[in-house]
Amino acid sequence: METDQIVKSPNHTIGVVGAGQMGHGIAQVMLRAGYTVILLDATKFLVDAGAKRIAKGLARDVEKERVTAAQRDQALARLKPTIEPADFAEADFVIEAVTEKFEVKAAVLGSLEAHCRADAIFASNTSSISITRLAAAAGRPTKFVGLHFFNPVPVMKLVEVIPGLQTAPETVEKAVALATSGGKTPVRVNDFPGFVSNRVLMPMINEAIFSLMEGVADAAGIDNVMKLGMNHPMGPLELADLIGLDVCRDIMLVLYESFRDSKYRPCPLLEKMVAAGWLGRKTGRGFYEYGKQ
Ligand code: 3HC
Repeated sequence: METDQIVKSPNHTIGVVGAGQMGHGIAQVMLRAGYTVILLDATKFLVDAGAKRIAKGLARDVEKERVTAAQRDQALARLKPTIEPADFAEADFVIEAVTEKFEVKAAVLGSLEAHCRADAIFASNTSSISITRLAAAAGRPTKFVGLHFFNPVPVMKLVEVIPGLQTAPETVEKAVALATSGGKTPVRVNDFPGFVSNRVLMPMINEAIFSLMEGVADAAGIDNVMKLGMNHPMGPLELADLIGLDVCRDIMLVLYESFRDSKYRPCPLLEKMVAAGWLGRKTGRGFYEYGKQ
């Protein structure tokens, strides 16, 4: 099958690696758009948890009359959860959404390379890591692109599309087409640390955490200032809890190490909360308490 058919027919296969917060959302969006999705994670427990979240998300889509019950059933029938990288042999397009650490992503991408077709396109959902560097690690630099989705993936419209230094123009076009077919609005962005989104967003969140640490206001006060004064849908601390404090810290570290500029140093309070395991909604506690998740 020619990969340029990806943009013309929904009957293509997307491999999503990582069934967590971002990966399960990306899989749900692609299933809703009519693709077959192979969902891969390291353990059966993780992949089953991702599949369960997708089923829940699609059930919500039925409730809201965004899809019919029959369409939901067809979408779920096109979902292939697996723990075998060899199952990616059928994939036309691979989207990586594993932990935001270069070493982890490089190892996962490198291990998939041998199992995938030579014409399959690889995309990374990295929030901040160099696409050029990941493309080199994956071993297919012309067929590698950044495809950065936003949390909650089924709801947020934006996808940043990021070519690396060696990405072929047709790879970018196919990534743009894939994002569009999933109902998203792609914005092309060049390969610099944090791209546009996290270069702007994360220092704001980090500064909000400094403000909390220094006692400028309490968490609700800081969030209310940004919600009521700047019309943000969520305050920066609530948003950090949604994204995950470990993810916020990892992105700040990428910015800090890439630019070697102290303005990107992660706030000590952020470091302390990550060390304590207070990672936000996913652990039931961050800047706010959420109870059992
Ligand atoms: N997962 C899935 N769906 C969710 C959700 C979640 N965590 N939170 C809310 N939703 C859905 C709701 O179910 C609802 O869908 P519905 O149409 O089926 O009812 C819809 O979103 C709207 O939710 P609500 O009416 O309950 O709430 P709000 O109107 O307050 O909207 C929000 C919720 C969309 C999350 C809104 O507060 C918002 O836009 N917040 C900002 C989110 C944001 O900035 N995301 C980007 C984070 S940065 C990022 O992802 C980059 C990464 O690299 C770090």
